[in-house]
Amino acid sequence: MVSITYLSHSAWLIKNGEHTILIDPFLSGNPLATVKKDDVKADYIIVTHAHGDHLGDAIPIARANKSLIITNFEIANYCSANGVSAHSMHIGGGHNFPFGRVKLTPAWHGSSFPDGSYGGTPAGVLITIDGKTIYHSGDTGLFLDMQLIGQMNSIDVFLVCIGDNFTMDINDAVKAVEFVKPKLTIPMHYNTFDVIRSDPEEFARKVKEKGFNARILGINESYSF
Ligand code: NI
Ligand code: MN
Repeated sequence: MVSITYLSHSAWLIKNGEHTILIDPFLSGNPLATVKKDDVKADYIIVTHAHGDHLGDAIPIARANKSLIITNFEIANYCSANGVSAHSMHIGGGHNFPFGRVKLTPAWHGSSFPDGSYGGTPAGVLITIDGKTIYHSGDTGLFLDMQLIGQMNSIDVFLVCIGDNFTMDINDAVKAVEFVKPKLTIPMHYNTFDVIRSDPEEFARKVKEKGFNARILGINESYSF
């Protein structure tokens, strides 16, 4: 049994009873997050890109927990230079970890660090754990190759950005769901800031109209499958 908990924005905690994997832990300075960085425990931290609202507290959490950060080559180097362990990979590549498999997928976005330095290319991520596959879109615009991701992987849960402005809006995210064909989709990356205001109920309704399942998770709410 895998459980995923929505910490807000693009931050998720995945657990299977043995391992805990944190994704894009933007907690400090996040107006929606109620969990504090000092209260999060994680064995692994996946970072999709270097923007501050995704790299977030990854380094201090990794330092406190001796977590392994899994991310692209450029961000991994940055993490190593900051004294935490990192596993470097890149788009199209996968790797088997003790908890399961991680593969980085394309994402159309940017990936500079908060100081403007180069953070490689942004990514989405496929995580396979206990035979279940989660696809976290990262920050991205809609792209047709999502069809290929859906054809080559049986996606149990698709975590998809819907906030517009920096990423897909609701209608593009609904099209992404049609491409990926997940068993369930859960929206993310909305309402954290005014510029990404979006209505998850409208998204869920439109997904269901297309014959797919959608579920909205509140902050700190979990879903098990
Ligand atoms: Ni971003
Ligand atoms: Mn973002």
